[in-house]
Amino acid sequence: FSSRLVLGIETSCDDTGAAVMDETGVILGESLHSQKDVHLKTGGIIPAAAQRLHRENIARVVQEVLDKSGIGPRELSAVATTVKPGLALSLGVGLEYSLNFIQQHKTPFIPIHHMEAHALTVRMIQSVPFPFLVLLVSGGHCLLAVARDIDNFLLLGQTVDKSPGDVLDKMARRLSLAKHPKCSMLSGGQAIELLALEGDRMKFLLKSPAGQQYGCNFSFAWVQNQVTQLINKKEEAEGIQEGEILSCVNDIAAVAQHTVASHIARRTHQAILFCKARGLLPQSNPSLVVSGGVASNTYIRETLKLVTDATNLDLFCPPPKLCTDNGVMVAWNGVEKLREGRGIMTHKDQIRYEPR
Ligand code: KG4
Ligand code: ZN
Repeated sequence: FSSRLVLGIETSCDDTGAAVMDETGVILGESLHSQKDVHLKTGGIIPAAAQRLHRENIARVVQEVLDKSGIGPRELSAVATTVKPGLALSLGVGLEYSLNFIQQHKTPFIPIHHMEAHALTVRMIQSVPFPFLVLLVSGGHCLLAVARDIDNFLLLGQTVDKSPGDVLDKMARRLSLAKHPKCSMLSGGQAIELLALEGDRMKFLLKSPAGQQYGCNFSFAWVQNQVTQLINKKEEAEGIQEGEILSCVNDIAAVAQHTVASHIARRTHQAILFCKARGLLPQSNPSLVVSGGVASNTYIRETLKLVTDATNLDLFCPPPKLCTDNGVMVAWNGVEKLREGRGIMTHKDQIRYEPR
């Protein structure tokens, strides 16, 4: 190989991911083991269970990408691994595995920040020059930042309570959507999106207590509280028990999705105005990059498009597969750093990280 190769490893939450990528961004091999089914049964991620599953799968996942790529460990120019932020027990598995690997094969090491990797993934497929505004919305994250360079980010705001994905998942569970004939095998967010297609988003009005607040921080707990109250009321009116499907389930899904979408859009609008006032984005062709599992929601993307059209920003969103956690985004972040010669360590360096 004339091009240098990077092995990316991701274990920050509930996905064991790995990928081998060459310096031009071509994926030679990728593999992902998701623990979602297990955590769905327990109704949330139990860190010790996540750790055990990462341990059971990491060696196989990495071996798979090396086999698919047809290369040996010694042909790698670097191992890039997510070191923060995330669940300490999960991160620990990827880090420990990587440190053993680089000791054994004397491979250079590139520590990766999970959020930065999400933010930069888009550059693997499209040329989005720095600086740009980035919105990350998923089950675990919700933040707005200016990406100024591969290793320079300005955080503008984040959620003060829950993430939008978490709230959509909780609402789907409260509505028993797993039992809905159209929704089996769908994540909470996907189920809400599907049912909302046949619902009236104006049927019920939720009041945003944060509506008047200035700033780029998010809050989603109030959405969950108000939707829960609405569901309680409707169950009583329809004379049904929790666990049965409401006749107005489509309307509730549409209202919940719309409320989440407009809150995200308002805060993003606020951030765009702030960036423009401070000259944080380029005058010509400023961009908004949106990523994370919730970014695969078409309604939310369309709502954001209204905001970027009104403020003359270009909107970029990686394909859904790259929006969620995976090894490819970590390998790509490693490639960007390798190219610039930044953040590269050797197996002789002291490598220790805090999860936050
Ligand atoms: O990025 P991700 O796979 O994992 C992390 O949370 O880090 O995101 C998963 C989240 C879940 O909460 C899921 O319900 C949500 O993304 N999600 C969606 C959609 N697809 C996945 N939310 C809304 N609409 C969707 N189509
Ligand atoms: Zn993530």
